[in-house]
Amino acid sequence: MKVLAILYNGFKAAKAEPRLLGTVENELGLRAYLESQGHEYIVTSSKEGPDSDFQKHIADTDILITTPFHPGYLTKELMAKAKNLKVCVTAGVGSDHVDLNAAVDRKIQVLEVSGSNVVSVAEQVMMSILLLVRNFVPAHEQAISGQWQVSDIARNAFDLEGKVVGTLGAGRIGHRVLQRLVPFNTKELLYYDYKALPEEAEKAVGARRVEDLKEFVSQCDVVTVNAPLHEGTQGLINKDLLQHFKPGAWLVNTARGAICNADDVAAAVKSGQLRGYAGDVWNVQPAPADHPWRSMRNPLGGGNGMTPHYSGTTLDAQQRYAEGTKQILQNYFENKPQDPGNVIVGVGKYESASYGQR
Ligand code: NAI
Repeated sequence: MKVLAILYNGFKAAKAEPRLLGTVENELGLRAYLESQGHEYIVTSSKEGPDSDFQKHIADTDILITTPFHPGYLTKELMAKAKNLKVCVTAGVGSDHVDLNAAVDRKIQVLEVSGSNVVSVAEQVMMSILLLVRNFVPAHEQAISGQWQVSDIARNAFDLEGKVVGTLGAGRIGHRVLQRLVPFNTKELLYYDYKALPEEAEKAVGARRVEDLKEFVSQCDVVTVNAPLHEGTQGLINKDLLQHFKPGAWLVNTARGAICNADDVAAAVKSGQLRGYAGDVWNVQPAPADHPWRSMRNPLGGGNGMTPHYSGTTLDAQQRYAEGTKQILQNYFENKPQDPGNVIVGVGKYESASYGQR
């Protein structure tokens, strides 16, 4: 079979650090295995436009491996050209870069390595909440640029203790974020999800479910987004919804950039309506140099906690999603059942309940 992987370039770093498994150079550690089984393995980062390796090879690829960190966008049109394609495997979590409805129609399975980087992201969420609330970035900028003006930083720095924090999406990551927030003695923990947390889990974290989205955001000092990108979440956080946020709230989105309207969020930060926005996911990846989220700042010079998409690709996470990808391939080749938690789209139908209510 022909297996095509779209990964990001690691260049020198990947040569020096073999644990950067999710790179073109280190090929998810799959080459020896795949070739020993007689498969052809093509690995590339070239993914945009008709002349890209992605678009050239997809025509006769049987199995496509992609990663959310450098998404190979498998559109409906591209899928129509992929005559042999049977399985898409996401090395990581989040398969929105594949047109999932088209995959259902074409009976192409979509699997991901569920759980492989959920702790990595939950930790990033905690870091992002803290760096916004405590106004860390401008303080760090002072430290490295030779300045020292405490009042300029302290005037917009707060404690997380006593604040209301809510997660939009309370699945694997959202639940872990709630667990990690417990010792911070927040005023209240809230969640908004069409699926309730199991009673035990809800009780253990002391979180309250709010069923109306506007009501939910209006009660939160901090909102963290932990839902997949699908028709029901695309552009969900826009000018209209932002008007229902508490004035000066903080927003953290490590789920998917396109859940937020980029211009609306940047305008809200610039006006101070949002005190800050942090995340590692962008509506286009790699993000263009002039993306509004790169340069936005609140009126007091802070409030920008953006990074490139890396929260779920720590070295620990890479090991887990590389191993998980191999396991999915092995199951497929040997006709063994897949872990049901990994199946987003089975043959001709959604198996995951996380990509919207259907
Ligand atoms: P999960 O499937 O365990 O949980 C997602 C939760 O979101 C589910 O409980 C689902 O009911 C809920 N949800 C779906 N649509 C919703 C809506 N419209 N409103 C409220 N809740 C909704 O997924 P997990 O593992 O927690 O991951 C969530 C997302 O985080 C992934 O789909 C991916 O996009 C993103 N992610 C980002 C990473 C990064 O490196 N930045 C790495 C891993 C995941």
